[in-house]
Formats: sequence, structure tokens, C-alpha cells
Amino acid sequence: MTNAFPEGFLWGGAVAANQLEGAYLEDGKLPSIQDVMPKGIAAPPTEEPTPDNLKLEGIDFYHRYESDLDLFAEMGFTAFRFSVAWSRVFPRGDEEAPNEAGLAFYDRLIDACLSRGMTPVITISHYETPLHLARAYNGWVDRRMIAFYERYARTLFERFADRVEYWLTFNEINAVLHAPLLAGGIWTPKEELSPRDLYQAVHHELVASASATRIAHEIDPELKIGCMVIASPAYPLTPAPSDVWAAKQLERDSLAFADVHCRGAYPGFFLRKLRELGVELDVADEDLETLRHTVDFVSFSYYMSVCASADPGVRAGRGNIMGGVPNPTLPSSEWGWQIDPVGLRIVLNDFWDRWGKPLFVVENGLGARDELVEVDGRLTVVDDYRIEYLTAHLKSVREALRDGVDVWGYTWWGPIDVVSASTAQLSKRYGFVYVDRNDDGTGTLERYRKKSFDAYRAIIAGNGADLG
Ligand code: BG6
Repeated sequence: MTNAFPEGFLWGGAVAANQLEGAYLEDGKLPSIQDVMPKGIAAPPTEEPTPDNLKLEGIDFYHRYESDLDLFAEMGFTAFRFSVAWSRVFPRGDEEAPNEAGLAFYDRLIDACLSRGMTPVITISHYETPLHLARAYNGWVDRRMIAFYERYARTLFERFADRVEYWLTFNEINAVLHAPLLAGGIWTPKEELSPRDLYQAVHHELVASASATRIAHEIDPELKIGCMVIASPAYPLTPAPSDVWAAKQLERDSLAFADVHCRGAYPGFFLRKLRELGVELDVADEDLETLRHTVDFVSFSYYMSVCASADPGVRAGRGNIMGGVPNPTLPSSEWGWQIDPVGLRIVLNDFWDRWGKPLFVVENGLGARDELVEVDGRLTVVDDYRIEYLTAHLKSVREALRDGVDVWGYTWWGPIDVVSASTAQLSKRYGFVYVDRNDDGTGTLERYRKKSFDAYRAIIAGNGADLG
């Protein structure tokens, strides 16, 4: 049995514009929802952008992308996943014509990737709906969002399809159920949002995603369009059949999103759920036809698994947006995200069995507090905990490949420290590259290679053969 990963396996890292670019009003950009979320999903948005929001400056990637990409190239990245900030290209979101300066930035970024041998993987919408669309339309609750998104996606395909083959329509599209502002640009506070409006927004996003897939394939049938979902396997807390069923139900809430993307129609269990909630969706005649445009691959983030219990007295713990009942057998990160490398093998196998579509692990990583120390005369972070996490999860990818699963690539979340999506902190660091910036906004923005930088470089250099 060979240890190496398949030839051409894509190795790299993933980021999102709002978490690292900064320059939030530069070259015609207007605010996105992120610019009024200084506490992430932990607190309601502010009226206007406030200086305590670390995302306004990010890690200044907008001005430093060349040297940051040099660091990624040094690690041997063959792929780089980033998002386009919608509000750079369509600053309000509902304009007729795009902002040329915004497109020009991504022209430069794409060319900079290609000249360093990195395949760009673009997320069209990563938690950064233009603020105007959230405020004036209540985000995806409004059907007109489909047309705005179609225009935006078409603009990107027409401009970049000659250089960009891999596209993801929405980051973690299933997160809208848990974080409606973040993932759906929905201004109504979650506690006041009716199931009808929430699921109507889900429907609009799914139609928009399928429509973008259609548009992309019309422009160039060779383009590879993927959906992107949070993968979070749910294990029954006990062997009681009722817990097994609870776990299945929890997983299905998420799986439904990729089911629609892969099969082109709503699954029966999802329709039942709507009936039980008393939700009657407003579905236009052409919507069901549009949904039939299925994706070429399924991409996902994987950070943790959860447990499920039929007992309503069992409380959920903290975790990646979705949350769930803590697993008593697993360790947790400082932020309460449970560490479960085997879960990645389970997800890869389950997804492959369910949809038979190629898979792409586009996010996986460990958020931790790092300490900058001097070793052999240079500043670094001795992050053995991150190397351990990386290695264990890559071994699971290797096992899944041996199980016969078709996996196209692996992009680590936040190869350079970025602002956290859930908490808006910089101290929750994922990077192989340390960025000198603190939660209070101080710091030089200097970059330093961590110990994990060399570890990932060695793994990529060996095409995964030396994982142990
Ligand atoms: C995913 C998001 O949910 O997890 C990223 O797609 C996010 O945007 C990542 O940064 C890690 O989460 P957090 O909250 O630790 O930044």
C-alpha cells in the first residue's frame, strides 16, 4: 500500500476576504455585514463599523498579498482558496455594473497565485453579504437576492474563467440555519426570525447556487463548481435507538443542503420537516428546474464531530456554529471544539457513499493561542499541538483515499493567522505563519514562520508519503 497521496492532489490553505484583506473601504468597496460584526456571532451587529472591529484592517492582506503568497509558495502550496469580497465587486450589491477596481484586485491576486504555481479555488460568497443587501432587503429572505447573486457570479465567471477552474458557490451554506446574519445576510435577529422566512432564505440561496452552476457551465463546461457545507458527523450519545435516530436527524439538517446540490431536488425528510414547521415555501415555477443543475464536486469544512441525544435535558456544548452535545471520549480545543480526526474519515466515506461525487476538504484546522518565542535567534511559535492536529487529520484523509474515496485536495483553514469568524478575535490563531496583531488592535503586522510551517512544507514536499 502506497503512503503517497494521488498525483495532482491539491495541497494548500484557505481564507476568506473579510477575515484578512482589511482595506474595507478602499478602491470603491463599501461595508459588508462583517464590518458591523465586531464580536462575530457572539453579539448583535453595530449600526456602523466600529474601530474595535479587527476585520476593518484584517492582516492587511489587500496590500501584502504578494509577500504572503511567497510564504505559501515556500510551503509548496499547489492550491489557494480565497473568497471574493462581494462588496468590492458590487459595493451595494444591487448595482447594474461592477466596480472595476474591485475586479482588478482579484485579477492581480489570481495572477499572483498562478505565477507561484498555485491553483486558485474561489469562494463566491463567504459570510460577507454587502451590508446594503442585508439592511435594505433583509438578505436572502428576499427573492431579488437571486438576481443580484446571479449577476455577481456571472461577472466573476466571465472575468476569471480563463484562469480559475475551481469555484464554490456559498461558504458553509448550511450554516444559515444557525447563523442567519452571517450566512444569509438576514438582518432580522435570529430570535425574531420566523421559520418561514428562514427556510425561504434557504430556498433562495439553493436556487441561486444552482443557477450559478448553470451559468458557469454555460460559459465553460470545463469549470468545476462545488457546493460547500459544514461537515459535522453526529454520533449517538448512547446506543439507545432513540439517540441513534436523534443523531441521524441532526446530520440530515445539514446533509439536506448537499442533497439538493447533488441530486437536484429536495429530499423527502426535508419536505416533512417543513410541513411539521408549518412552512409553505414560495417556489417560483422555474425554481425546481433550476435546482436540477447539480454540482461537480462537494467541498466541506471539517473541524469537529458532535453527539446527539433524544433527551431534551442533555445540553449542547460549544463548537463550530452548529454546536452539539459534547463527546465524553474526545479532547477539546480551548474554544471547546472537540478534536476528532477519525470523524474526518467517517465524513469522507459517508459523503462518497451518499453522493458519489469527488470531495474536497477545503477547511480543517486548529484555533489555538500561540506564544511567539525566540529559537536559534529567530522568532517563532513552537506549535506541536497544531502539527499533531494536522498530521492526524491528514492520516484520516489518507485512510479515506485507501477506502476508495475520490478526494481532490486539502486546504488548511487559515494558513496565516486571520480574524476569527465566530468570535472576531485574532488570538484564535490557525496559521502556519504568525501575524503580530493582537485583539486590542496593537501589533506590527510582521509575519513569522511557526514550527508548523516547516512541518506542512515537509508533508507537501513528500506528497503526504511521510506522515508516519
Ligand atoms: C468556518 C468558516 O466555519 O470556520 C471560516 O468558514 C472560519 O470563515 C472557520 O474562520 C474557523 O472558525 P473560527 O470561528 O474559529 O474563525
